[in-house]
Amino acid sequence: MDEKMGSALNEQINAELYSSYLYLSMASYCKRLNLEGFARWMEVQALEELSHAMKFFNFVNERGAKVELQAIAGPPVSWDSPLSVFEAVYGHEVKVTGLIYELVNLAMELRDHAAVNFLQWFVNEQVEEETSADNIVQKLRLIGSDGGGLYMVDQELGQRVFTPLPGTTILAGAAGA
Ligand code: FEO
Repeated sequence: MDEKMGSALNEQINAELYSSYLYLSMASYCKRLNLEGFARWMEVQALEELSHAMKFFNFVNERGAKVELQAIAGPPVSWDSPLSVFEAVYGHEVKVTGLIYELVNLAMELRDHAAVNFLQWFVNEQVEEETSADNIVQKLRLIGSDGGGLYMVDQELGQRVFTPLPGTTILAGAAGA
């Protein structure tokens, strides 16, 4: 694999691990507000981000390139409200979409068809990520300061379940690997 592609994919492993860290921090913030459903949604999101990192990790390894794990930056610890934390989720996902598009551009420039093909999964995933965060933001804007509405959204977000992506567990051969 071209060195530039390898290093860009390594940066993306770091960005996905940072995303996981960020959502874990958001989960803790939601717990401090006693919004257990919100916290669960964030924890599931953190696990999904870890599997995104593993998807990149596996791809880099499969292509015979070197994985170089970098330090993960510390995420913020507090937000202003349940709405602002979800606005931050949406803003973060838009940023990640930009990173994925840059990777696709690089892969196309280098005529790395395997990487272009691999990245398509993330292009689609980002559409879902942005849509689901935006839906929650819209809902929270609608309910404003209505406590009953917030309670209902908390119940709904608490239903989220984590479904491991095939081939993305850290321990090869474990459930979902
Ligand atoms: Fe891995 Fe939420 O993007």
